[in-house]
Amino acid sequence: MNTEREKYLLKINNLKVHFHTLEGTVRAVEDASLTIEPGMTMGLVGESGCGKSVTAHSILRLLPTRTCQIKSGEILFRRQGNNEVIDLAKVEPDGELIRSIRGHEIAMVFQEPMTSLSPVFTVGNQIIEAIMLHRRLQPQEAREYAAEMLKAVALPEDVIDEYPYRLSGGQRQRAMTAMALSCHPSLLIADEPTTALDVTTQAQIIELLKSLQQQLHMAILMITHNLGVIAETADRVAVMYLGRVVESGTVKQIFDNPLHPYTIGLLKSIPRMGSETKKRLAPIPGSVPDPLTVIEGCAFRLRCPVCKQKGCDGKDVLDAVETEPEHFVHCLLYSKRAR
Ligand SMILES: Nc1ncnc2c1ncn2[C@@H]1O[C@H](COP(=O)(O)OP(=O)(O)OP(=O)(O)O)[C@@H](O)[C@H]1O
Ligand SMILES: [Mg+2]
Repeated sequence: MNTEREKYLLKINNLKVHFHTLEGTVRAVEDASLTIEPGMTMGLVGESGCGKSVTAHSILRLLPTRTCQIKSGEILFRRQGNNEVIDLAKVEPDGELIRSIRGHEIAMVFQEPMTSLSPVFTVGNQIIEAIMLHRRLQPQEAREYAAEMLKAVALPEDVIDEYPYRLSGGQRQRAMTAMALSCHPSLLIADEPTTALDVTTQAQIIELLKSLQQQLHMAILMITHNLGVIAETADRVAVMYLGRVVESGTVKQIFDNPLHPYTIGLLKSIPRMGSETKKRLAPIPGSVPDPLTVIEGCAFRLRCPVCKQKGCDGKDVLDAVETEPEHFVHCLLYSKRAR
């Protein structure tokens, strides 16, 4: 069992990331842990501002170095070529090592494709440049490969010579996906990849990612508010609240047997695409506290409907409890100490 678990591709342990601002210290990520195995999809969910994107950007070291600091924790990444494990939390933020991994072994697609597509170069030239940066191909070979990638994402052939602004939102998302996947990353980070798209295009992009994932045996970290997308794509789910991963497990465990009061509230508050239940949505009472404040103990206790104050304000509550194999929850209700 243990050896299975050690086959991880990415393992984040107790990550803590702070921003130093004029208003004070923003505790964007306080305690995030998650494990992604090769070829699997990990869904990352949680209300707006809970630290999903900061966690993703920490992996690729894309955070502003002047204001942002990884305070503690590990981001262990296993390189697929030689099995070497690198702690991405410790590498130089813009050094050669992370640049050789970024866009090559770990790629990212964003909600807004124009963040990674330049408006002044054709789609083809941008993909060719990405390919040539990481693979030893001649320009003509790289162009042929770019055409192949565009075909793989079901874009018409002539898109190769188009500028991104001439494409529709869905086509841009496909072009960015083609660029991200052109170097065969072992991990793709997709941060709200379909939020800006209409429902039909959303479904097409998700299908596309799933089929490319199988072809390339690539793992995906899927960040989304859309629980339907999670149900469609993810093998496992991590739920974040105020910078902490409060629960993680298989999709079935999280959807059918949510344990953390926050997960239970979140599932009741967000529609599930394709779900047959017509239950009323119930927002979680209260709002997410300001990330500038330091909260001892469970960060959700201020909004928690079941918190009895029996130690929830203490430090003990932060230990993860494994209630069944692979199902972890950070809540005193499930701790032996509370029984
Ligand atoms: N550059 C920055 N400077 C200061 N604070 C920041 C910065 N970037 C993010 N934050 C703060 O870090 C916290 C986590 O933000 P993050 O973008 O990771 O949230 P998120 O879960 O991705 O939310 P959303 O679902 O809205 O995308 C928020 O409180 C946010 O205001
Ligand atoms: Mg975000």
